[in-house]
Amino acid sequence: MVKMSCATILHFMIILLIMELAIYCSGKNTTFGCIERERNALLKLRASFIDPSNRLSSWNTKDCCTWQGVACHETTRHVMTLDLKNADYRYAFSEYFNGRLSSEELDSSLLELKNLSYLDLSWNNFQLSPIPPFLGSMKQLQYLNLCGANFSGVVPYQLGNLSSLRVLDINAWYGNLAIDNLMWVSNFSSLKQLDMSSVNLSQTKDLFQAFRLHSEFHWRSLLIVLVTFE
Ligand SMILES: *[C@@H]1O[C@H](CO)[C@@H](O)[C@H](O)[C@H]1NC(C)=O
Ligand SMILES: *[C@@H]1O[C@H](CO)[C@@H](O)[C@H](O)[C@H]1NC(C)=O
Ligand SMILES: *[C@@H]1O[C@H](CO)[C@@H](O)[C@H](O)[C@H]1NC(C)=O
Ligand SMILES: *[C@@H]1O[C@H](CO)[C@@H](O)[C@H](O)[C@H]1NC(C)=O
Ligand SMILES: *[C@@H]1O[C@H](CO)[C@@H](O)[C@H](O)[C@H]1NC(C)=O
Ligand SMILES: *[C@@H]1O[C@H](CO)[C@@H](O)[C@H](O)[C@H]1NC(C)=O
Repeated sequence: MVKMSCATILHFMIILLIMELAIYCSGKNTTFGCIERERNALLKLRASFIDPSNRLSSWNTKDCCTWQGVACHETTRHVMTLDLKNADYRYAFSEYFNGRLSSEELDSSLLELKNLSYLDLSWNNFQLSPIPPFLGSMKQLQYLNLCGANFSGVVPYQLGNLSSLRVLDINAWYGNLAIDNLMWVSNFSSLKQLDMSSVNLSQTKDLFQAFRLHSEFHWRSLLIVLVTFE
């Protein structure tokens, strides 16, 4: 009979514990930090903004996934969410409306965020620049909110390429957006909510045809569109 001392048994138990811990950790795949390329893109985006209230002051540490408004995938660490909504929007008509990020145009460094599915830029100030057509190549987008962000010009038909989109808000509180051709709206197979309030549809040729094609359209959204029809 093999005699084992208490010390030997303890030794075995510790080894077992360490092995289990190692298996547990590899299974969880706890990766920290963020992807360097995406971090650089966010820094470039930050540099394109004037940020008078210093909202993006947390955007300077190594792990960009912990930055204000940024959320990453649990394991792949890709940036999935960028929420830069200006929370001051309730004061849109008062002197408290100062938390806006301001930029002459939306920076194309966003394109580096290949897995971005949620983008909220509402109530910031893009100084009457056009909505950039490059947004149409961000195929992972499910949520796009450009409400009250002072964009102007014709809404680019390239947005019709965003086939995963569930929510699109191009409410033109400020700025003066127009749509000349709505056929691309019929491309949105997953769209649940569309807000085009205040968008100038007076030159839109195919409004009713586009919505006939989109049979699953919500009445609420349709109403919003009709209210703005001139
Ligand atoms: C762990 O995460 C990496 C991404 O950094 C991924 O390539 C890999 O497949 C993951 N492994 C597991 C077991 O989930
Ligand atoms: C990120 O995007 C790549 C390429 O588009 C894709 O292969 C991958 O599955 C995506 N990962 C996540 C978590 O969405
Ligand atoms: C929109 O941008 C223009 C041009 O920079 C500016 O004059 C105007 O005040 C902006 N609108 C708002 C509501 O900030
Ligand atoms: C839209 O998608 C088509 C087909 O995938 C592609 O050829 C075209 O370049 C895309 N346009 C934009 C603006 O991304
Ligand atoms: C509609 O979607 C298809 C496939 O994604 C794309 O090839 C086409 O260019 C889109 N049409 C418009 C008007 O965006
Ligand atoms: C809408 O656009 C048309 C044509 O560009 C223009 O004549 C009209 O004044 C615009 N309406 C508003 C409310 O801006």
